[in-house]
Amino acid sequence: SSCVRFVAVLPRQIINASLIGYDIYLYGGQVTWKNEHREELLFVSSKAIFKPPKAIRGGITICFPQFGSGALDRHGFARNRFWSIDNDPPPFPTNTTNKAFIDLILKQSEEDAKIWPHRYEFRLRITLGPGGDLMLTSRIRNTNTDGKSFTFTFAYHTHLYVTDISEVRVEGLETLDYLDNLKDRERFTEQGDAITFESEVDKIYLSTPTKIAILDHERKRTFVLRKDGLPDAVVWNPWDKKAKAMPDFGDDDYMHMLCVEAACVEKPITLKPGEEWKGRQELSVVPSSYCSGQ
Ligand code: BG6
Repeated sequence: SSCVRFVAVLPRQIINASLIGYDIYLYGGQVTWKNEHREELLFVSSKAIFKPPKAIRGGITICFPQFGSGALDRHGFARNRFWSIDNDPPPFPTNTTNKAFIDLILKQSEEDAKIWPHRYEFRLRITLGPGGDLMLTSRIRNTNTDGKSFTFTFAYHTHLYVTDISEVRVEGLETLDYLDNLKDRERFTEQGDAITFESEVDKIYLSTPTKIAILDHERKRTFVLRKDGLPDAVVWNPWDKKAKAMPDFGDDDYMHMLCVEAACVEKPITLKPGEEWKGRQELSVVPSSYCSGQ
């Protein structure tokens, strides 16, 4: 697509591609958004480090093949690997003209074979729709030749920029069951009205609706997150104490960030050789008045 352009070669060979406003890092397959008018859509930490080995604290981080803690490093290795661009990607299956997209690919490396002994092809399609909607589609295929299945969990670790966290409401998760990451993933049921924030939160909402709305009252705008193939949704804000403990996170950054992440955590996905899984997250921003009553 003509809208995809390569804009820079950064230190340590992080090649940076761009889709109108969004920057795409081959390191981690990570998408960020930043402009100078403080109109950020995706939060990027004021102390973010834009070089390996850690993922950039902000934007959308890919968590694969493990969400959270477990046998692998937290959130898996995909966010700490160099992805490559597919210069000859398959086209959109339907008549979706007017969309710019870029396909990134991640495959097993020799080094990774020691920690996760499976061959796979991970195709991440980053698509920009009319009005700046951002759609991420992941296709993960088992390319094992030894007949073995593999199992994974997944999340689009999405850092939304919010004007003031204490004025934010999340709609679509009320009354759902969740696993509380702050309590060893114990299961609870959310009570009452829309979700608001006044302290640290780290929850995995289970089997959520496909549409979640994040209302930024101050800015009078609403993020609409739609998802497909990803039954769960993670909501995370470290609040003040944990913010201070993170070297790449500004002390006050927690006031301007809310992570809402389309995810598949509770029931891991298993793929047999030759099988493919698809998981999609779409993010759009609309004026709050437009959204209310929908
Ligand atoms: C969230 C998790 O998705 O990511 C949190 O729910 C975790 O438990 C957070 O603290 C940040 O993780 P990391 O490894 O990027 O510091």
